[in-house]
Order: sequence, then C-alpha cells, then structure tokens
Amino acid sequence: SNTNETIENRLYSICKLLESNINYYNWVGFYFKNGDKEELKLGPYVGEPTDHTIIPFGKGICGQVAVSNQNFVVPDVAAQDNYIACSITVKAEIVIPIFVNGENIGQIDIDSNTPDPFTEADERLLEFVCAKVSEIL
Ligand code: SME
Repeated sequence: SNTNETIENRLYSICKLLESNINYYNWVGFYFKNGDKEELKLGPYVGEPTDHTIIPFGKGICGQVAVSNQNFVVPDVAAQDNYIACSITVKAEIVIPIFVNGENIGQIDIDSNTPDPFTEADERLLEFVCAKVSEIL
C-alpha cells in the first residue's frame, strides 16, 4: 500500500496525522541532516511556515538534538537560552531523533501552544513514529 507515494508525501501525511489528532501538537515537522554539512534542513511539516529552514548543529533545540542524539523535551521555551523562536505563540517543544543504522540522521520536531503539555507517552509515541520513519528512508 502507498508504494506510489513519495517519501516526502508519506512524511507529510505523518505530520498531518499527528497535528490533526493531538490537540496540543500545533506545528509538526521533520528536519534532516543536510548532506555532509553540519546542519539540519527542513523537510515536510504542517503548521505555520518557518524562516528556519536551515539550522546549524548545536543551535536551538533542534541543533542540540543533532549533537546529543537524545530526546529533548522543553516544557517552557522561555526558560531556554539556546532556543530558536519560530512563532510567538509557541510555549513548549519536543524533539525526537531519528536513527538509521545507529546514526542520527534527523528528527521530528513538535511545537505546542500549550504550556508543559508533553509526557513520557508523547516520547514513546514519537520514538515509535521515528522508528517507523527510519524504515522508509
Ligand atoms: N524551535 C526550534 C526551531 C525550529 S521551529 O520550532 C520550527 C529550535 O529551537 O531548534
């Protein structure tokens, strides 16, 4: 099924599914390592367009996850000093890395307009999504 769908369309569908079913997921997108460069490039997303289509490794929540290889749950973005604001409505963020053959090749990034909404259930759900995504890349 869906074998005619491009990877980009399938990733967009995942974003849409998450954004439309979980009320505190307000921006859902993928970032991927940009070739051999030490930077992330924006992939498919749902939500307001962002100026941050390229993020250097180490910068912002996303760039930190590119380096740490760990989930990053931010209950209050205003309390983060290394944070890239995409929208003033965003209160919280979660970023989960995607591994292919043990290598961190990208991530799913979710912004919430609700303060402190993310639990371990979100981490487990998004880890599952990322594991499935790694199988189609
Ligand atoms: N807030 C992110 C930047 C990406 S936008 O959320 C879409 C960060 O600090 O890395």
